[in-house]
Amino acid sequence: MAQKPWLNGLGMIIVWIVLHPTMIAAQQPALSLIPIPANLQAGSGSLRVDSSFTFALAGHSEPRLGRAAERFLRQLALQTSIPLSPKPAKNSNATLMIHTGHASREIQEVGEDESYVLEVSATGAKLIAPTPLGTMHGLQTFLQLVNVSPDGFAAPAVTIHDQPRFPWRGLMIDSARHFIPLDVIRRNLDGMEAVKMNVFHWHLSENQGFRIESKKFPKLHGLGSDGLYYTQEEVRDVIAYARDRGIRVVPEFDMPGHSTAWFVGHPELASGKGPYEIERRWGIFDPAIDPTNEKVYKLLDDLIGEMARIFPDHFFHIGGDEVNGKEWDANPKIQAYMKDHGIKNNDALQAYFSGRVQKLVVKHGKIVVGWDEVLVPGVPKDIVIQSWRGQASLALAAKQGFRGILSNGYYLDLGWPAGRHYAVDPMSGDAGNLSPEEKQHILGGESCMWAEYVNAENVDSRIWPRNAAIAERLWSPQEVRDPASMYARLDFISARLEWLGLTHKTYYRRMLQRIAGPSSPEEFAALRTLADLVEPVKDYTREQTAPAQPTSATPMNRVVDAVPLESDAGRHFGELVDQYLASSCHDAALADRLRAQLSRWRDNDAQLQPLAQRSLLVKEVAARSQDLSALGAAGLAALDAIAKGQPALDSWKSEQLAVIEQAKKPKAQLLLIPAPSVQKLVEAASAGGACFAAKL
Ligand code: ACM
Repeated sequence: MAQKPWLNGLGMIIVWIVLHPTMIAAQQPALSLIPIPANLQAGSGSLRVDSSFTFALAGHSEPRLGRAAERFLRQLALQTSIPLSPKPAKNSNATLMIHTGHASREIQEVGEDESYVLEVSATGAKLIAPTPLGTMHGLQTFLQLVNVSPDGFAAPAVTIHDQPRFPWRGLMIDSARHFIPLDVIRRNLDGMEAVKMNVFHWHLSENQGFRIESKKFPKLHGLGSDGLYYTQEEVRDVIAYARDRGIRVVPEFDMPGHSTAWFVGHPELASGKGPYEIERRWGIFDPAIDPTNEKVYKLLDDLIGEMARIFPDHFFHIGGDEVNGKEWDANPKIQAYMKDHGIKNNDALQAYFSGRVQKLVVKHGKIVVGWDEVLVPGVPKDIVIQSWRGQASLALAAKQGFRGILSNGYYLDLGWPAGRHYAVDPMSGDAGNLSPEEKQHILGGESCMWAEYVNAENVDSRIWPRNAAIAERLWSPQEVRDPASMYARLDFISARLEWLGLTHKTYYRRMLQRIAGPSSPEEFAALRTLADLVEPVKDYTREQTAPAQPTSATPMNRVVDAVPLESDAGRHFGELVDQYLASSCHDAALADRLRAQLSRWRDNDAQLQPLAQRSLLVKEVAARSQDLSALGAAGLAALDAIAKGQPALDSWKSEQLAVIEQAKKPKAQLLLIPAPSVQKLVEAASAGGACFAAKL
């Protein structure tokens, strides 16, 4: 993860091109790579990709590389609709020559060489990598280079020297709160491969479910999962599927809290009296493993041993987060044990538990990963801290010599825009002040998909495309941080991810159609217009604003479940308003575009209301629809005032601001994204506002 100098000479110019794809669109196809490579130099011309395209594999050979090449060909054929020969060419005249130096480790390691060099010229392409990991990354880059051109498909001439900034670039999926079926897991692994992420952290146990088969303790999944669990064979298949894509699989068994589902079959492990049932609600609950019970360690020894044999990865996640200690406080036996053993408080009791579990994990040949809470005095230095509570705790861990990965700032379930995740850097905040040696302890980061409000249908959309922005943050040089460029490239990768089988775009229409029920094209279009401009409420307010207590049985069939977490239409409207105001309200073409959108919004409610009368699920957003119409009218009135050159009256401004305040409030757990931008127009149209300030 050593950072290489990359901004130099010609590289600087080329990087500028990559970072400003829209500005060069007229001269040549934009390079929409994501993540941006460490070093890229543009050549001249382009390599045609047609039915004569062949590839040849040389150097180190292994079945995984053959499968990667076949996958690559399938994808290329899909992108281009050109039938391509799936067999490698024998001669050295192949269009794409691939050379792999040597095998990678049998069990993929943190910090293994993932670099590659890709040279594309008008006459052919060469991909050279020390290990299959680099080869696979290079193939993904090549796929992103190929695009349609006026005379067919082509990859622009480039020379790319690429390697990751961080060795640990992960996505965590919580399969426990809602069970996530295997095909969904697999297509997300495909997505990870496309953006060069290399760790799948699989959150397998929770209060709401124990999701993996244990042959030693069949009551764990048998009574703790409602029958929704992965068999060991299925898990082995996923691990092989991930390895084929250069992805490690790290399992998480969250303990001693977040463990109610364990106790349904094994109440003897718990600190309370029970009986226990699978938890159906969301939140932090009292049940916790009893750290003072030797039977616990006997079971964990056997269970960790069983799981350690299934998951080859060197790392094993033991959770450790959010133990409220109430069952410990209420149990006289535990209190007596603490007194006898000089364990002063619950933090110390958890440290004692973590220490015992860590020894078992080490006994079975693994290294412990845990959430920040496991970082307490006395824990062994080789554990890895996953920081979810803040960047400060990551820096603190690194200072004390612990390796760490950042997840704070990368929680996909909080509904942040991609740009906000993108701005979070594992080396910023307190980590920015670490010494170079301490910085070496920061291995990278992981995005986290917690599953309270996702299911098989909408989970892709809660992960993608925003996860690609985090993938870039963890792969590309730190200096790559222009959000405008990122968003331009995110649109591109988003479309391509759908070709891999991800459904983050297509699910949306399907869900909206179900919500609408029978509807005319105009009515459905009106629903879509509204839905495109709203986002679910952010952070942890979903729970607080719910119409009834949400549980794992709550249907996910509402508009809030269907709309993407980031509104592209809302963001684009905001950009348009900013551009218009930056033109001091003189740009007539921009004014026309704003007017067209605002008119459509103003008139949208009339189209939608008949449908709202017929569909309960549309009715829920009827008030949002009225707010959108009001925003449309306010924005149009502002543009009228500007066009007339007459600043709007203060009384009008106050009225409009009151309307906008209403529109800003969450309703039906939805935020109306354009409200602040319409407010900017109203303020600009008023006396002393941006459009009139110069004339006063
Ligand atoms: C966590 O979010 N409790 C790890």
